[in-house]
Amino acid sequence: MIILDHLTMRLAGGGRQITILDDITVAIPDKQRVAIVGPSGSGKSTLLGLIAGLDQPTSGSITIDGVEISTMRENALARYRRDHIGYIFQSFHLIPTLTALENVLVPLELAGIRGAQARATDLLGAVGLASRLSHYPVQLSGGEQQRVAVARAFACRPPILLADEPTGNLDSATGQHIMSLLLSLHRDFGTTLVLVTHDRSMASSMERIIALRDGRIESDSLNDSEPSVAESPR
Ligand SMILES: Nc1ncnc2c1ncn2[C@@H]1O[C@H](COP(=O)(O)OP(=O)(O)OP(=O)(O)O)[C@@H](O)[C@H]1O
Ligand SMILES: [Mg+2]
Repeated sequence: MIILDHLTMRLAGGGRQITILDDITVAIPDKQRVAIVGPSGSGKSTLLGLIAGLDQPTSGSITIDGVEISTMRENALARYRRDHIGYIFQSFHLIPTLTALENVLVPLELAGIRGAQARATDLLGAVGLASRLSHYPVQLSGGEQQRVAVARAFACRPPILLADEPTGNLDSATGQHIMSLLLSLHRDFGTTLVLVTHDRSMASSMERIIALRDGRIESDSLNDSEPSVAESPR
């Protein structure tokens, strides 16, 4: 369960304080699929970054599975992130000097997971990149880079996967491929998915849609139309 309690984020901008997130309170149960939507500048990426522990809120707290991450020190937080959170950036953020395989190996080796090489190879196979293992990011298309990013984010099988517009830079067919990959991770491992998206069809395959406007929750609703996905144990 992810609990955001009266979360506020203020930053200095143009010589004054601006409020980017204003009193956000929300609870996301395990295994839920959540879309965060809203206009540009409404605070979606900021919110996702706070849930990931990439930033600290000005006030309020973030508690994940009973652990308050908003007051953790950097080292503990880094370990927590490594073990619990997969994060997919809009712009892929692959390491340019490493091959596809090496990019996926990074989190596995940091976590000291045995059989890292085999797992990374399997994951890239699962995202359809078995023949691209030794390609560098510049040698991959946008959709292929995003698939490497999905494989990397999921390498340590985190219980929570956060994705910031994971299909934003892709054509719709490739975007659907990425989306079905994320849904299959949810189905097979019970992964909690929190996705920022501008894409209606993507939002419609989530169970819940939280809309932000000017840093506040404008609406928070269950999505009646979404097809139910069979639950499986983690
Ligand atoms: N480091 C920063 N310093 C000052 N202002 C910031 C900073 N980061 C973000 N902002 C401001 O906070 C607001 C929310 O930004 P955020 O990136 O969360 O929006 P978003 O909803 O993800 O938008 P988009 O859909 O364009 O990605 C924006 O007005 C942005 O200019
Ligand atoms: Mg954003």
